[in-house]
Amino acid sequence: DELKVFCPATIANISCGFDVLGVALDSVGDEMVVRKTKEKGIKITKLIGQELPLETNKNVAGVAAVALLDAIGYREGFEIEIYKKIKAGSGIGSSAASSTGAVWAINELLGKPFSSLDLVKFAMEGEYLASGVHHADNVAPALYGGFTLVRSYEPLDVIKINTPDKLYATVIHPQIEIKTSDSRKILKTSITLKDGIKQWGNVGGLVAGLFIEDYELIGRSLEDHIIEPIRSILIPEFNKVKSESIKAGALGGGISGSGPSIFALSKGENTANDVAEAMRNVYKNIGINFDVHVSKIN
Ligand code: HSE
Repeated sequence: DELKVFCPATIANISCGFDVLGVALDSVGDEMVVRKTKEKGIKITKLIGQELPLETNKNVAGVAAVALLDAIGYREGFEIEIYKKIKAGSGIGSSAASSTGAVWAINELLGKPFSSLDLVKFAMEGEYLASGVHHADNVAPALYGGFTLVRSYEPLDVIKINTPDKLYATVIHPQIEIKTSDSRKILKTSITLKDGIKQWGNVGGLVAGLFIEDYELIGRSLEDHIIEPIRSILIPEFNKVKSESIKAGALGGGISGSGPSIFALSKGENTANDVAEAMRNVYKNIGINFDVHVSKIN
């Protein structure tokens, strides 16, 4: 009646796919323990590693779990312990890790009454609490693993995408916090047709590259002509980190989710480690504190 779960970090957007593309990281994430209780409802009993609210209705895991319980008539009760390793506001899906961990574990403990797509919908309520938007590009890969595409929001349609064998992600997190809600406010609400053409060309290219395992095509498609030019202003040395990553052998990269983390994709673990070193050097030289992670993508 108790489950311990790994809740993966995720990179949303993956440059060209704002709000639709995302990928789960294998070796970066939180842990959570979920246990059935006699008392009905959801209680967050422990939250270690971050200053976040414990109240069920103010906690993303709590809100997502309540959305699930609402769907089955609120007959059950669970308590949740959250061990956070992912920092809130880091751009690697901290809120999504908590929301998805909670709904996934509760679904397992109940004997899996819900599909993965249902769980995405419940977890999106946590994302709404965190950012004011029901975006699914972190929660979908956290639940499905690997790369996912949110083909449509209404109705919700999530497609699992193939992961090439040798694909690795390197992510650097400069120690500043950017709230998703803030980094969405600065975006324009309309785009030009010209930019749209570039963007959907790249989304198609990236998805095709992942399926046919064409690493060069994946690299060419990691472009973002719409969001990155605006958001990158908030991130210290963004252009330098990106260009040094590519010099070190990365296929390409960009802003992870709403930032400030920066990601790069590489073919092979050695290259991903070289990229990590190149990223580190940029921040070391100017005295910015950071965390770096290298993760295989499965
Ligand atoms: N697609 C969302 C955004 C992801 O970029 O605002 C937030 O993690």
